[in-house]
Amino acid sequence: MKKKDTHEIETNLLLEAILFCYGYDFRHWSRASLERRILHRVKSSGLASISEMIPKIIHDPDFFGLFLKDMSITVTEMFRDPHVFKKIRRQVCGQLKTYPRVNIWHAGCATGEEVYSMAILLEEEGLLKKTRIYATDFNNHSLEIAEKGIYPAEQMKLFTKNYLAAGGKASFADYYQAKFNAAKMKASLREKITFANHNLAQDHGFAQMHMILCRNVLIYFDRELQEKVLNLLKDSLIFRGYLILGEKESLEFSNVKESFEVYGRKEKIYRKKASV
Ligand SMILES: C[S@@+](CC[C@H](N)C(=O)[O-])C[C@H]1O[C@@H](n2cnc3c(N)ncnc32)[C@H](O)[C@@H]1O
Repeated sequence: MKKKDTHEIETNLLLEAILFCYGYDFRHWSRASLERRILHRVKSSGLASISEMIPKIIHDPDFFGLFLKDMSITVTEMFRDPHVFKKIRRQVCGQLKTYPRVNIWHAGCATGEEVYSMAILLEEEGLLKKTRIYATDFNNHSLEIAEKGIYPAEQMKLFTKNYLAAGGKASFADYYQAKFNAAKMKASLREKITFANHNLAQDHGFAQMHMILCRNVLIYFDRELQEKVLNLLKDSLIFRGYLILGEKESLEFSNVKESFEVYGRKEKIYRKKASV
């Protein structure tokens, strides 16, 4: 009798255990990055195999917390890919100004840098007052950092450079207060932001969004989950609403492609068609 690859069986059992115990569904993550992260946790916990990790996951929620942290790649920065923010400022904002109220959703916001960047841009374009920003992630630890809006002072040099490259109109230092080794983002930016836990793989979408940023999140999912999430994002947008993906992501191979026009190829900005 031919036996399946042991590694694959252990991984599948682990994922089922996580789903049963904690409700997190990792079965549709891209297998390569999933296995890399699982093996990292196995090794750094001094375990001999993935199977040994299963009882630890089942009996120890703190251990699962560690695993969850491994799974959540939080690499991000303010005004990441400045040309994207420049295009939003120069071309998308004009359209947003025509609406009486604006809803923006950052799906997979990590520690919040992308969200504060957007709030700054909207403030400079006179849009922040009439905008509500929803910022979601499935990692509560990241959301706590995002809510506080406190970042290491040493990052301000890079953030300032990005801000200027993105067409920033003021001085980036106007938007934070430096204290010791930290920089706290201005409280008025935070007022229009709602941070919330949301799992793109399992939860419902939002309604009536004028713009959705879901950048550098889909790369971790397999094709099936990417498709599911892209449909959810599409349904959350108003007609003529904007969808913004990460540099390595696109709608090219998705069945939602026909529902969008390419608005900025290089910037990965798509616009939902008027009727789909
Ligand atoms: C690399 S960060 C991207 C942050 C930001 N969007 C950017 O581009 O700089 C990816 C984020 O996606 C989040 N994420 C991964 N899977 C998710 C899911 N199923 N639901 C919600 N957030 C998820 C991770 O927790 C992480 O914070």
